[in-house]
Amino acid sequence: MDLYIAAIDPTDQPTLDAAYRIAATAEAMDAPDLPPLCRRRFEAPLRHPMPGIDTRWSVAHLDGLPVGWVRINLHLLDNTENASIELVVDPAHRRRGVGRALFTHARELLREAGCKRVVGSAVAALPGAGGPGELGGKAPGGPGGEAPGDLGGEAPAELGGELAGAAFATALGAKAALVDVRRRLDVATLDRRQLAALLADARSTAAGYRTVRWRDLPPEEYLADVAHLEGRLLADAPMGDLEWEPEQVDAERIRGIERALDARGVRRYSVAAVHEASGRLVGWSLLSLAANTTRHAWQQITIVEPAHRGHRLGLLCKAENLKHTLAYEPELQAIDTYNAAANSHMIAINEQLGFRPAAGSTEWQLTI
Ligand SMILES: CC(C)(COP(=O)(O)OP(=O)(O)OC[C@H]1O[C@@H](n2cnc3c(N)ncnc32)[C@H](O)[C@@H]1OP(=O)(O)O)[C@@H](O)C(=O)NCCC(=O)NCCS
Repeated sequence: MDLYIAAIDPTDQPTLDAAYRIAATAEAMDAPDLPPLCRRRFEAPLRHPMPGIDTRWSVAHLDGLPVGWVRINLHLLDNTENASIELVVDPAHRRRGVGRALFTHARELLREAGCKRVVGSAVAALPGAGGPGELGGKAPGGPGGEAPGDLGGEAPAELGGELAGAAFATALGAKAALVDVRRRLDVATLDRRQLAALLADARSTAAGYRTVRWRDLPPEEYLADVAHLEGRLLADAPMGDLEWEPEQVDAERIRGIERALDARGVRRYSVAAVHEASGRLVGWSLLSLAANTTRHAWQQITIVEPAHRGHRLGLLCKAENLKHTLAYEPELQAIDTYNAAANSHMIAINEQLGFRPAAGSTEWQLTI
């Protein structure tokens, strides 16, 4: 068996094709209810990196054939001792040491870069579902693509229970640091009367605030407030045992993120709450769709500035944004969102809107 691992060559189309095929096959196994992996998003780190992220991407070849790959993301603006990792092996070539070899390769790169810890996610059973899946997980935030049919499907917990990612992470010595739950809103079952009632109720509690909406790039006048909210996110969300510091975000970084999302073809819909007395934007909710789908969206960030909590601004922004997005995306069938299992406040809002648990995910952390 001849195994060698080398940095990906962005001009080597056959290897890129193989890497995409491996990722798409693995994702279809781990999360069969999500649409196919978006090719444009998959390749984007090569030419359109997120600001402050240095991605190193290597491919494993077994007897000359690409059989797996690893990507590490080094963080240059904050979390400089942390890195995130994605590592996938072709299902046809598993349990032959390829995953371990890819990780050994990545660990060398991480040590050279001065990193102290690395975090990766993998699919898991829903908390409380029991069985071998209690160990495992799947990467959050992975917008997919156009589904050939309905977006229904089995939950990963029922996938024969292999949950290789969890077993692999455990074998490497990683610790489960955060348990997430992916919830799904089936748009066909959306109770529009209930949504209108929730919105009316939230509006009555949100006197002194007005909402603004936009698509894609936030209006220039709100960029600094959006940056402030985005930077707060990791300070506010439950992080379990993850050692991840809040990100340093300013207006320029937001512009860079928006350019990178444009390059990925991601369509974004936002509703935000403005405090009328100060003119500051103090709450914000964002939904996005990958370039290759009209049927599936991700509910991304929802955040309210701490001094302005207790006015139902989170529910207001999220519910209005749902209507806003549906007005532009009439084919939308399903919306997925990740929450830390411990994030009871956000989960309560999501449940009110009709989101229901679909899958679990674990963030694994390893000191290197
Ligand atoms: C997890 C993954 C990368 C493993 O790749 P692989 O090439 O099969 O891994 P290896 O053969 O190097 O396995 C290393 C060790 O991990 C453990 N392991 C890996 N897969 C396992 C499985 N399905 N069941 C039990 N243990 C497993 C074993 O301890 C194994 O050592 P052993 O074979 O000597 O017993 C692969 O299954 C995959 O791509 N999964 C989907 C993506 C994913 O979850 N990535 C990990 C994110 S943290």
